[in-house]
Amino acid sequence: MARLPTEDRGQVALKMSVIGCGYLGAVHAAAMAELGHDVVGVDIDPGKIATLNRGEAPIFEPGLGLILTSATESGRLRFSTDMAKVRGSRVHFIAVGTPQKHGGNAADLTYVDAAIDALIPHLSDGDLVVGKSTVPVGTAARLAEKLAASGTGATLAWNPEFLREGFAVQDTISPDRLVYGVSAGIAGDQARALLDEVYTVALSQDTPLVVTDYATAELVKAAANAFLATKISFINAMAEIAEATGADVTQLADAIGHDNRIGRRFLNAGVGFGGGCLPKDIRAFTARAEELGLGESVAFLKEVDSINLRRRQRAVDMAAESLEGSVFGRRIAVLGLAFKPNSDDVRDSPALDVAVQLKGLGGEVICYDPEAMSNAKAKHPQLSFANSIVDAVTGADAIIVVTEWDDFKQLDPSEVLALANGSLVIDGRNCLDPEAWRDAGWEYRSMGRPDRATALVV
Ligand code: UGA
Repeated sequence: MARLPTEDRGQVALKMSVIGCGYLGAVHAAAMAELGHDVVGVDIDPGKIATLNRGEAPIFEPGLGLILTSATESGRLRFSTDMAKVRGSRVHFIAVGTPQKHGGNAADLTYVDAAIDALIPHLSDGDLVVGKSTVPVGTAARLAEKLAASGTGATLAWNPEFLREGFAVQDTISPDRLVYGVSAGIAGDQARALLDEVYTVALSQDTPLVVTDYATAELVKAAANAFLATKISFINAMAEIAEATGADVTQLADAIGHDNRIGRRFLNAGVGFGGGCLPKDIRAFTARAEELGLGESVAFLKEVDSINLRRRQRAVDMAAESLEGSVFGRRIAVLGLAFKPNSDDVRDSPALDVAVQLKGLGGEVICYDPEAMSNAKAKHPQLSFANSIVDAVTGADAIIVVTEWDDFKQLDPSEVLALANGSLVIDGRNCLDPEAWRDAGWEYRSMGRPDRATALVV
């Protein structure tokens, strides 16, 4: 077995590969090297590989650039488009994407299968292939059979990833739990022992470890994202009720969140969830359950999806309503394009969707985001983009905040009013201070909170 000198913190350095260097793989490769492992990352995109080999992050992810630079300089981390470079690695992580299929809800497993097929010729006896991609339940068992049939002697484990974009480095180095899905018998015991070596540092910090079979490991990931999506849609459903009754959903969330069984996190109402995971994962989970004849068990996830999409529509309708019935010809500053702050990711972004819808209705939409502008431009070149917040809000009839970046939360409402043409602000993330904006002279509207502050705040 390939071993490198033992580093501090008791970490045994292993030789490993990471196949797929996107949001998940690039972070995983860099984090593993940061822990002292010897890592090669493989991706089919030569541009991405060149960037990574310069020690630069191809995405905006806090802290990633730093660990990439130090690990590539140390020689512990390199990237290649050549799959043969994985030879000699003992552990091979599969971190490729599983996007939503075109024209359907199921996950597209093309990249996972292609990665395994390309990997097989380079595997040796005793190698461990570790799936990190989010896959429908049953995939790991199928891939394990494929590996067994390859005659390489390599085995499979499934080790789902729970990192959040924006906190990806921290979540990978210090995860809140580890899940290993392994086969029964000696091969499973060996897989577990090897994964314990991969994660020595996290395990030495008492990170909870759950060892399961393949199906449970796959379902843990699907269930976790389904639960988070449900929590967000629950509070957004309450926002709909609050809007009709004059109640305040933020106070409601604070009050129910004090119950430890409920908890306050992920109860922020607004334009809802987006990104490369939650939306496609709940759809893929539903599609897989339906394939298994169990559609009823997760039928509620369709409602979760519908509530979520309605909130984007609600923000657009609110803008039209407040601008005398139509956004046509009105200049609207859209603040935010990323699906959440501290990310440049615009996949299924509610913010970008709102911008596109307002533009579709004839609004003169001008967008700004601190990090996601180039990704948004590539996806929707028909939108107009400002160079700064000041550019975006100057002359605007209305402002709509759809990603809660600190830059937007810290805006001085009086200064913005002096630049704008109108005085309508729609807070699509309930992240601004209503009183401060109203006091400065704005018509402030938000998601699930009364238009005029009526509730008593203690
Ligand atoms: C999500 C999960 O949180 C991770 O645990 C998981 O590993 C990851 O998907 C994945 O499957 O790879 P992420 O997509 O980075 O992580 O984003 P979240 O922090 O979950 O946010 C998702 C969306 O929900 C964002 O658009 C965010 O603005 C929205 N959100 C979040 C709300 O609307 N309200 C909230 O209270 C919280």
